[in-house]
Amino acid sequence: MPLRNLVIFPEMIVPVIVGRLDSVRAVEKSSDDTKKIIVIAQKDQDKTFVSPEEDLYRVGVIAEIAQTMRMPDGSLRLILVGGKRIRILSFRDVEGVLHADAVHLDNEPVTDLIELEACTRYAVAQLQRYIKLLSHIPDDLASVVDNIDDILHYANILSSYLPGPLASKQELLETTDVCGQLKKIGALLEKECQINDVGQQIREKASYRLKQAEKEYFLREQLKAIQEELKENGDESAEPDIAKKMKELKLPPEAVKQVENELKHLEKIPSMSPEYGLTKSYIDYILDLPWSKKDEENSDLNHVSSILEADHFGLDKVKERILEFLAIKKLAPGSKGPILCFVGPPGTGKTSLAKSVAGALGRKYIRISLGGVRDEAEIRGHRRTYIGALPGRIISGMKNAGVINPLILLDEVDKMDSDFRGDPTSALLEVLDPEQNHAFVDHFLEVPYDLSQVLFITTANLLYHIPEPLSDRLEIIQLSSYTEEEKIEIAVRHLIPKQILEHGLTAKNQPVFSLPMITAIITRYTKEPGVRELERNIAKICRKIGKKIVDGSLPEKAEYSITRTDLEAYLGPEKYKPEEKEPAPQIGIATGLAWTEVGGVIMPIEVATMPGKGNLIITGQLGDIMQESAKAALSYIRSRETQFKLAKGFNEKLDIHIHVPEGAVPKDGPSAGIAIASALVSALTKTPVASQVAMTGEITLRGRVLPIGGLKEKILAAHRARIPTVIIPKQNTSDLPDIPEKIRNRLTIIPVDTMDEVLSNVLVAKPSTSTARTKRKAKSS
Ligand SMILES: Nc1ncnc2c1ncn2[C@@H]1O[C@H](COP(=O)(O)OP(=O)(O)OP(=O)(O)O)[C@@H](O)[C@H]1O
Ligand SMILES: [Mg+2]
Repeated sequence: MPLRNLVIFPEMIVPVIVGRLDSVRAVEKSSDDTKKIIVIAQKDQDKTFVSPEEDLYRVGVIAEIAQTMRMPDGSLRLILVGGKRIRILSFRDVEGVLHADAVHLDNEPVTDLIELEACTRYAVAQLQRYIKLLSHIPDDLASVVDNIDDILHYANILSSYLPGPLASKQELLETTDVCGQLKKIGALLEKECQINDVGQQIREKASYRLKQAEKEYFLREQLKAIQEELKENGDESAEPDIAKKMKELKLPPEAVKQVENELKHLEKIPSMSPEYGLTKSYIDYILDLPWSKKDEENSDLNHVSSILEADHFGLDKVKERILEFLAIKKLAPGSKGPILCFVGPPGTGKTSLAKSVAGALGRKYIRISLGGVRDEAEIRGHRRTYIGALPGRIISGMKNAGVINPLILLDEVDKMDSDFRGDPTSALLEVLDPEQNHAFVDHFLEVPYDLSQVLFITTANLLYHIPEPLSDRLEIIQLSSYTEEEKIEIAVRHLIPKQILEHGLTAKNQPVFSLPMITAIITRYTKEPGVRELERNIAKICRKIGKKIVDGSLPEKAEYSITRTDLEAYLGPEKYKPEEKEPAPQIGIATGLAWTEVGGVIMPIEVATMPGKGNLIITGQLGDIMQESAKAALSYIRSRETQFKLAKGFNEKLDIHIHVPEGAVPKDGPSAGIAIASALVSALTKTPVASQVAMTGEITLRGRVLPIGGLKEKILAAHRARIPTVIIPKQNTSDLPDIPEKIRNRLTIIPVDTMDEVLSNVLVAKPSTSTARTKRKAKSS
């Protein structure tokens, strides 16, 4: 009888179901007589109809049919007991029942016992290994393990339980040498164990991954629970809170939408990620900005006027202009008026005036310094995609103000620069332009912000350094240098009381500054258009006195008068010594006047001549325009060789060096023309120049004197330097009323039209010029 999927070993008891008609007949036949039947495995398990010669193995067993049960479908259920092994010699078909001629197949006798022992141990070791892998051990197998000595006896049982394909079991059945059988059993078990190991590894890996995922899931769930718990405890600014806050802040619709979008985004990202923090702080930033909160403005002009008066001495015109500006603002609140710009030398009170205006109006004061700003992003912020992005200075200023209507001082607009990072001017224009600033877009903020309620004031030192598109929109209010008298007033009324108060010197040992002492500080320790250095010196004295009070080295008295020795002790040796004697006139030196960032300054010009080849050397950090005016001055002199009694082609045998000392300070502008020409003429004709005459004016090749800018500052500079006579271009006389009358009265101002007039006033022993004019002295009033 052919068997599918089964190899029966001797001594094995196996239940078998017989369905095929041929097999049923064979069983019935043998049941009738011997109850024995030859069972042989078929090679191809799928074949139902087999041809015995080709499809069946040649080795099988004679099995005993222990039990037969007929099933309703006609099939038989048998219990077979494996008997002796046989080898088929031939097959025969007898009346539809397969018969076979066969011989017994016995084991070969064992010759090598040691080999047998080794094979046994190997097989048993593998069996033990294999058994460990099984969750349930069949009884038969367990008995094998228990009776290792009986291994030979049980080899067949073992074989029948072996895992593995049918072919390998058949091979075992056919093996007649016991050692070979044990080796094969061992090998099969070993292979099975290996397969199991690999399988285990794969399972472990898979389960590790699974565990990892499970763990993350678990942690996430925990986190969610914690977050929810926190929310319940009010620890997390929950959405409803934000919505409430947005309503309170009266956020414009665009900003509300932006916040809502960001909140949605926040839900999607894990709270530990950096992006979460950034988004959260962005939302916080928006909610920290003022969107509707406003300070009540005190626009009563009398009140403003009294505060400006109390805070600053003088500056009458400036105060007047500020009040006019505020009056118009009050009359037409929506008007798109210009922006105020205070222009003037350092320390003249521009910044403090703006602060005072803010205080008077009851607006918050925010100062934004634009000095050195060269990146547009400083004004307009960085996009949030940048790491460490921040809003621009305007929006940060608004955040600090906390209200929508502060006074923002844009300090030092003339010190802005532009480079490859963009032009801050254009961004600033947008900030200041009333047409655009109600929807100012900062790159960081992304939503438009309304700046239209802000009062902007700007300051600058030099008007012509302000970028033109900007200066077009500004209403310039000029502040100028202070005179010595004004400085004294400012010191007495403001600086000294302020410093005494700041240094806590009100009760004991209050320093008293007499007028001569204040004058001494101004003239001997400072040289400035404003009062900053003066204030610093007063502060220094107060500080030193304060220290002495604390360490007890100052005798107790209510007032402490400052003396000249105190000045030396506290401020050190005098820095500037006013010339006691009038310096002697010198050859080749003339005094020009220049207008620089620090106000007007006097500018000595030196000329030296030496034998050479007609080179003109110009040193002292002179700008292009100043160098050109030096050349123009030389050409003027060359064109008048005969007038100045100079040899023909005098310059070809000479090198001329023009130098303007204090080379560290860059100087430019055409206004030194007449001073350079005077020094040149003096050097070439060996005629000394009066040292007590300062001059300013541009020169043409024909010797005409053209007007210049900044006259007031220059005249004040001459006055500070105690130079009594100033030569100015006649066309500048219209600027004279700007100069304080006291100073005008103290100076001799000589307006001139031509270079000849200049020379006649400055050269001490006049060169015999044919066109020497009468000296014209004009005391303008
Ligand atoms: N007219 C004045 N009355 C009272 N104090 C003054 C006056 N002018 C200037 N000050 C004081 O001088 C100091 C310097 O003034 P401030 O800082 O405003 O100068 P600034 O014009 O802004 O100079 P800079 O151009 O260098 O910025 C301040 O303490 C200010 O109060
Ligand atoms: Mg300032």
